[in-house]
Amino acid sequence: MNYEGKTKIVKVTGDYALLEFKDDITAGDGLKHDVLTGKGSICAETTAILMKYLSEKDIKTHLVEYIPPRTLKVIPLKMFPLEVVVRLKKAGSFVRRYGGAEGEDLPVPLVEFFIKDDERHDPMVCVDHLEILGIATREQAEKMKEAAVKITLALKEFFERANFELWDIKYEFGLDKDGNVVLGDEISPDTFRLRKKGEIFDKDVYRRDLGDPLKKYREVLELCRSLNSQ
Ligand code: TMP
Ligand code: ASP
Repeated sequence: MNYEGKTKIVKVTGDYALLEFKDDITAGDGLKHDVLTGKGSICAETTAILMKYLSEKDIKTHLVEYIPPRTLKVIPLKMFPLEVVVRLKKAGSFVRRYGGAEGEDLPVPLVEFFIKDDERHDPMVCVDHLEILGIATREQAEKMKEAAVKITLALKEFFERANFELWDIKYEFGLDKDGNVVLGDEISPDTFRLRKKGEIFDKDVYRRDLGDPLKKYREVLELCRSLNSQ
Protein backbone atom coordinates (compact mmCIF):
# COMPACT_ATOMS: atom_id res chain seq x y z
CA MET A 1 0.00 0.00 0.00
CA ASN A 2 1.36 3.43 -0.96
CA TYR A 3 0.52 6.84 0.38
CA GLU A 4 1.80 10.11 -1.04
CA GLY A 5 1.85 13.24 1.14
CA LYS A 6 3.12 16.75 0.38
CA THR A 7 6.76 15.93 1.09
CA LYS A 8 7.00 12.14 1.39
CA ILE A 9 5.90 8.87 -0.18
CA VAL A 10 5.23 5.90 2.13
CA LYS A 11 5.48 2.38 0.72
CA VAL A 12 4.48 -0.47 3.03
CA THR A 13 6.29 -3.70 2.18
CA GLY A 14 5.76 -6.67 4.51
CA ASP A 15 7.20 -6.06 7.96
CA TYR A 16 8.62 -2.65 7.11
CA ALA A 17 7.74 0.61 5.42
CA LEU A 18 9.87 2.81 3.17
CA LEU A 19 9.63 6.55 3.62
CA GLU A 20 10.85 8.34 0.51
CA PHE A 21 11.56 12.04 0.99
CA LYS A 22 10.55 14.23 -1.98
CA ASP A 23 12.25 17.47 -3.05
CA ASP A 24 9.03 19.43 -2.49
CA ILE A 25 8.75 22.24 0.04
CA THR A 26 5.41 23.73 1.03
CA ALA A 27 4.02 26.35 3.40
CA GLY A 28 0.70 27.92 4.26
CA ASP A 29 -1.19 24.59 4.21
CA GLY A 30 0.24 23.76 0.81
CA LEU A 31 -0.62 27.09 -0.86
CA LYS A 32 3.05 27.93 -1.36
CA HIS A 33 4.94 25.15 -3.12
CA ASP A 34 8.36 24.68 -4.73
CA VAL A 35 10.71 21.88 -5.68
CA LEU A 36 14.29 22.22 -4.39
CA THR A 37 16.57 19.60 -5.91
CA GLY A 38 18.39 17.75 -3.15
CA LYS A 39 16.04 18.72 -0.31
CA GLY A 40 14.68 15.17 0.07
CA SER A 41 18.08 13.61 0.64
CA ILE A 42 19.09 16.37 3.10
CA CYS A 43 15.93 15.91 5.21
CA ALA A 44 16.13 12.10 5.08
CA GLU A 45 19.74 12.01 6.32
CA THR A 46 19.10 14.71 8.95
CA THR A 47 16.13 12.70 10.26
CA ALA A 48 18.21 9.52 10.34
CA ILE A 49 21.03 11.13 12.35
CA LEU A 50 18.64 12.73 14.85
CA MET A 51 16.49 9.61 15.31
CA LYS A 52 19.60 7.48 15.81
CA TYR A 53 20.74 9.97 18.48
CA LEU A 54 17.31 9.66 20.18
CA SER A 55 17.44 5.87 20.15
CA GLU A 56 20.79 6.09 21.96
CA LYS A 57 18.89 8.05 24.65
CA ASP A 58 16.35 5.19 24.96
CA ILE A 59 13.66 7.01 23.00
CA LYS A 60 11.66 4.80 20.63
CA THR A 61 11.43 5.94 17.00
CA HIS A 62 10.28 4.26 13.80
CA LEU A 63 13.77 4.40 12.22
CA VAL A 64 15.31 1.10 11.16
CA GLU A 65 17.95 2.36 8.73
CA TYR A 66 18.84 5.14 6.33
CA ILE A 67 18.93 4.03 2.70
CA PRO A 68 20.81 6.77 0.84
CA PRO A 69 20.07 9.11 -0.69
CA ARG A 70 16.44 9.84 0.24
CA THR A 71 14.80 6.86 1.91
CA LEU A 72 14.30 5.67 5.47
CA LYS A 73 13.42 2.08 6.27
CA VAL A 74 10.98 2.31 9.19
CA ILE A 75 8.67 0.13 11.24
CA PRO A 76 5.08 0.64 10.11
CA LEU A 77 2.97 2.68 12.55
CA LYS A 78 -0.73 3.42 12.71
CA MET A 79 -0.35 7.18 12.72
CA PHE A 80 -2.44 9.55 14.81
CA PRO A 81 -3.69 12.30 12.43
CA LEU A 82 -1.95 14.86 14.66
CA GLU A 83 0.87 17.34 14.82
CA VAL A 84 2.32 17.56 18.32
CA VAL A 85 4.19 20.83 18.77
CA VAL A 86 6.58 21.55 21.63
CA ARG A 87 7.65 25.13 22.19
CA LEU A 88 10.61 26.31 24.26
CA LYS A 89 10.41 29.88 22.94
CA LYS A 90 7.61 32.02 21.52
CA ALA A 91 7.41 32.09 17.69
CA GLY A 92 5.17 31.56 14.68
CA SER A 93 1.55 30.72 15.39
CA PHE A 94 2.08 31.07 19.16
CA VAL A 95 2.93 34.76 18.72
CA ARG A 96 0.04 35.21 16.27
CA ARG A 97 -2.42 33.67 18.78
CA TYR A 98 -1.18 34.83 22.15
CA GLY A 99 1.17 37.77 21.45
CA GLY A 100 4.66 38.32 22.85
CA ALA A 101 7.88 38.61 20.88
CA GLU A 102 9.62 36.02 18.67
CA GLY A 103 12.37 34.33 20.64
CA GLU A 104 11.08 35.09 24.15
CA ASP A 105 11.51 32.18 26.57
CA LEU A 106 8.55 30.18 27.80
CA PRO A 107 8.82 29.27 31.49
CA VAL A 108 8.32 25.54 30.80
CA PRO A 109 7.99 23.55 27.55
CA LEU A 110 4.52 24.02 26.07
CA VAL A 111 2.85 21.11 24.24
CA GLU A 112 0.09 21.79 21.68
CA PHE A 113 -1.94 19.31 19.59
CA PHE A 114 -3.20 20.11 16.08
CA ILE A 115 -5.38 17.91 13.88
CA LYS A 116 -3.80 17.40 10.43
CA ASP A 117 -6.41 18.91 8.16
CA ASP A 118 -5.21 21.50 5.62
CA GLU A 119 -8.78 22.48 4.66
CA ARG A 120 -9.50 23.44 8.27
CA HIS A 121 -6.00 24.93 8.70
CA ASP A 122 -4.95 22.28 11.23
CA PRO A 123 -7.23 23.18 14.16
CA MET A 124 -5.65 23.24 17.62
CA VAL A 125 -7.27 20.79 20.03
CA CYS A 126 -6.95 19.79 23.68
CA VAL A 127 -6.87 16.31 25.19
CA ASP A 128 -10.68 16.35 25.68
CA HIS A 129 -11.14 16.88 21.92
CA LEU A 130 -8.80 13.96 21.17
CA GLU A 131 -10.85 11.68 23.41
CA ILE A 132 -14.29 12.91 22.31
CA LEU A 133 -13.37 12.87 18.60
CA GLY A 134 -11.97 9.34 19.01
CA ILE A 135 -8.50 10.37 17.82
CA ALA A 136 -6.51 9.23 20.87
CA THR A 137 -7.27 8.07 24.39
CA ARG A 138 -6.32 10.29 27.34
CA GLU A 139 -3.57 7.84 28.17
CA GLN A 140 -2.17 7.89 24.61
CA ALA A 141 -2.31 11.70 24.59
CA GLU A 142 -0.39 11.85 27.87
CA LYS A 143 2.20 9.42 26.46
CA MET A 144 2.63 11.65 23.36
CA LYS A 145 3.04 14.72 25.57
CA GLU A 146 5.59 13.05 27.80
CA ALA A 147 7.60 11.65 24.87
CA ALA A 148 7.43 14.95 22.97
CA VAL A 149 8.92 16.92 25.88
CA LYS A 150 11.61 14.31 26.53
CA ILE A 151 12.61 14.26 22.83
CA THR A 152 12.66 18.06 22.65
CA LEU A 153 14.95 18.39 25.67
CA ALA A 154 17.29 15.75 24.20
CA LEU A 155 17.43 17.58 20.85
CA LYS A 156 17.89 20.95 22.59
CA GLU A 157 20.93 19.48 24.33
CA PHE A 158 22.26 18.08 21.03
CA PHE A 159 22.12 21.43 19.24
CA GLU A 160 23.32 23.42 22.27
CA ARG A 161 26.70 21.70 21.92
CA ALA A 162 27.19 23.93 18.85
CA ASN A 163 25.46 26.97 20.42
CA PHE A 164 22.34 26.53 18.28
CA GLU A 165 18.95 27.24 19.89
CA LEU A 166 16.00 24.92 19.33
CA TRP A 167 12.93 27.17 19.55
CA ASP A 168 10.10 24.78 18.72
CA ILE A 169 9.44 21.49 16.94
CA LYS A 170 6.63 19.37 15.52
CA TYR A 171 6.26 15.61 15.91
CA GLU A 172 3.96 12.93 14.55
CA PHE A 173 3.37 9.80 16.60
CA GLY A 174 1.82 6.43 15.84
CA LEU A 175 1.14 3.03 17.42
CA ASP A 176 3.34 0.02 16.70
CA LYS A 177 1.89 -3.50 16.47
CA ASP A 178 2.04 -3.84 20.27
CA GLY A 179 0.19 -0.58 20.87
CA ASN A 180 3.24 1.44 21.96
CA VAL A 181 3.30 5.17 21.19
CA VAL A 182 6.31 5.61 18.86
CA LEU A 183 7.81 8.67 17.14
CA GLY A 184 7.28 8.60 13.37
CA ASP A 185 7.61 11.00 10.43
CA GLU A 186 10.70 13.23 10.27
CA ILE A 187 12.89 15.62 12.25
CA SER A 188 14.38 18.25 9.94
CA PRO A 189 14.47 22.01 9.30
CA ASP A 190 10.97 21.51 7.86
CA THR A 191 9.72 20.56 11.32
CA PHE A 192 11.70 22.67 13.81
CA ARG A 193 12.86 26.22 14.37
CA LEU A 194 16.62 26.36 14.89
CA ARG A 195 18.49 29.62 15.45
CA LYS A 196 22.01 30.84 16.12
CA LYS A 197 22.63 34.47 17.06
CA GLY A 198 19.50 35.57 15.22
CA GLU A 199 20.33 33.57 12.07
CA ILE A 200 17.51 31.31 10.82
CA PHE A 201 18.29 27.67 10.01
CA ASP A 202 14.79 26.34 9.28
CA LYS A 203 11.73 26.59 7.01
CA ASP A 204 11.02 30.16 8.11
CA VAL A 205 13.64 31.11 5.46
CA TYR A 206 11.16 29.75 2.90
CA ARG A 207 7.91 30.79 4.66
CA ARG A 208 9.16 34.39 4.91
CA ASP A 209 11.14 34.54 1.60
CA LEU A 210 14.45 35.27 3.33
CA GLY A 211 16.84 33.64 0.85
CA ASP A 212 17.91 30.16 -0.21
CA PRO A 213 16.38 27.63 2.22
CA LEU A 214 18.47 24.75 0.90
CA LYS A 215 21.73 26.46 1.86
CA LYS A 216 20.53 26.54 5.48
CA TYR A 217 19.15 22.97 5.33
CA ARG A 218 22.59 21.80 4.10
CA GLU A 219 24.31 23.62 6.97
CA VAL A 220 22.00 21.89 9.47
CA LEU A 221 22.85 18.50 7.94
CA GLU A 222 26.60 19.27 8.18
CA LEU A 223 26.08 20.33 11.80
CA CYS A 224 24.22 17.09 12.60
CA ARG A 225 26.93 15.01 10.90
CA SER A 226 29.67 16.69 12.89
CA LEU A 227 27.84 16.59 16.26
CA ASN A 228 26.99 12.95 15.60
CA SER A 229 30.63 11.99 15.08
CA GLN A 230 31.89 13.76 18.24
P1 TMP B 1 3.86 27.16 14.21
O1 TMP B 1 4.47 28.22 15.06
O2 TMP B 1 3.63 27.61 12.78
O3 TMP B 1 2.62 26.58 14.82
O4 TMP B 1 4.93 25.98 14.10
C1 TMP B 1 5.43 25.34 15.25
C2 TMP B 1 6.49 24.34 14.83
O5 TMP B 1 5.93 23.28 14.09
C3 TMP B 1 7.58 24.92 13.93
O6 TMP B 1 8.83 24.37 14.30
C4 TMP B 1 7.21 24.47 12.55
C5 TMP B 1 6.50 23.18 12.78
N1 TMP B 1 5.39 22.94 11.85
C6 TMP B 1 5.40 21.83 11.01
O7 TMP B 1 6.35 21.04 11.04
N2 TMP B 1 4.33 21.62 10.17
C7 TMP B 1 3.28 22.46 10.13
O8 TMP B 1 2.35 22.23 9.35
C8 TMP B 1 3.27 23.60 11.00
C9 TMP B 1 2.13 24.57 10.98
C10 TMP B 1 4.33 23.79 11.83
N1 ASP C 1 1.92 24.86 6.89
C1 ASP C 1 3.06 24.00 6.95
C2 ASP C 1 4.26 24.75 7.44
O1 ASP C 1 4.33 25.96 7.30
C3 ASP C 1 3.37 23.31 5.66
C4 ASP C 1 2.21 23.23 4.69
O2 ASP C 1 1.14 23.47 5.10
O3 ASP C 1 2.37 22.91 3.53
O4 ASP C 1 5.16 24.11 7.96
